[in-house]
Amino acid sequence: MQTLGKLYKILNTSKLLSHPSHYRELFQSLDLWLFQHRHLWNVSSFHSINWPWQMAEPNLCSWLSQQRNCPTESTVEQALYDHIKGFEPFIFEWEALSYVDLSLPPNYFSAGIKGRKWEQIAAFSNCIEPLSPVLEWCAGKGHLGKLLAYQHDVSIHSVEWQAELCEAGQKEAEQRQLSQHFTQVDVLKGEGKAALKSAKSAVALHACGDLHTTLIEQAIEEGLAYLAISPCCYHLTQYAQYQPLSKLGQQARIQLSQENLTLAVKQVSTAGRREQRLKRIELAYRLGFDSWQRKVTENDCYLTIPSCSKSLLTEGFEVFSLWAAEQKALQTYVSEIPFDGFEALGYLRSEHVQKVEAVSQYFRRPLELWLVLDRALKLQESGYHVTIEKFCDKALTPRNLLVRASL
Ligand SMILES: C[S@@+](CC[C@H](N)C(=O)[O-])C[C@H]1O[C@@H](n2cnc3c(N)ncnc32)[C@H](O)[C@@H]1O
Repeated sequence: MQTLGKLYKILNTSKLLSHPSHYRELFQSLDLWLFQHRHLWNVSSFHSINWPWQMAEPNLCSWLSQQRNCPTESTVEQALYDHIKGFEPFIFEWEALSYVDLSLPPNYFSAGIKGRKWEQIAAFSNCIEPLSPVLEWCAGKGHLGKLLAYQHDVSIHSVEWQAELCEAGQKEAEQRQLSQHFTQVDVLKGEGKAALKSAKSAVALHACGDLHTTLIEQAIEEGLAYLAISPCCYHLTQYAQYQPLSKLGQQARIQLSQENLTLAVKQVSTAGRREQRLKRIELAYRLGFDSWQRKVTENDCYLTIPSCSKSLLTEGFEVFSLWAAEQKALQTYVSEIPFDGFEALGYLRSEHVQKVEAVSQYFRRPLELWLVLDRALKLQESGYHVTIEKFCDKALTPRNLLVRASL
């Protein structure tokens, strides 16, 4: 077995990422790479009882079957390299973002903001140079806007959909005597446009799917001078199929469903031990029940069950399955075929699902980079100078990419 390291040819993406003029080239090679390996990430892990790539990758499947534990990211990479002919990892490193360590305001300022959120906001503020007046898009209580007003001496207009967040944010701004005011708007109904017209720059920290793509499109229309966006939740969109923003994206080889977009933001679990244990139980129970329903209905298809309370899981497999059977009007079958043996089957299947997900998860970050590049290219095509960088460590937030654009 060869080991990874210097043996394979690495696409030198770190160089490409540090030069926005190469974003097109990077997008195209990433698109091709994702296309070539789409059978490995474009899978519904719950649905298939067999390996989803049984025919295409028999060597990888027999390796996976031999693994006692779920493989880690680096073992998956090694296995792909060993068992798929011609496989080359797509490695990319982000440039360290140059930033100014701006002085932080007095402690009372961060009161009520969770530690990690406060650190994300401080990191974001350090990395940008907004021009006043600044529009804060989908602001929540406008914590970012407050720090920008303090550190960059800019005036902030925060727009947000939830009236109570606007009220709370406005009150705090007044208490701190900051130049920040709020307007309650639904940006998806075009109600953010008036605010965009009177702004010179716009910032959006973790605005989900359609919220940040709407900002990009409307900011381009208005010819806004400066934009700083950290995208998140790409799957929160009204479209069943991803609608690429850039011309290059529209010509891409890969096409993404909402499920694929969910993969791009799937978290490696940071949950506590109890929560992780419950997650494992839930997965096994759902799959055990699924095996039972396939048998009683004689229909070999996955059946989606609604979400349930954690307390139901503590009552055991039988209680869970009875509840699930009721949800799907299958309770009459319970006396004919009891649930005996299906819990163990669920645990077996959950090990299988975890291995399938370990392989598809390997493609998570490349998919996210593809999506972020699509946003960057749209802005480039519209005349902006654009950079993509990491604004904080992934331990602070996994959604740590920052797109900065200036005209
Ligand atoms: C993930 S939060 C981010 C909040 C803030 N930027 C932060 O990082 O703390 C997204 C925010 O968008 C707001 N939002 C959702 N839909 C919206 C819409 N259609 N128009 C305006 N704001 C919206 C939500 O109420 C929420 O406060």
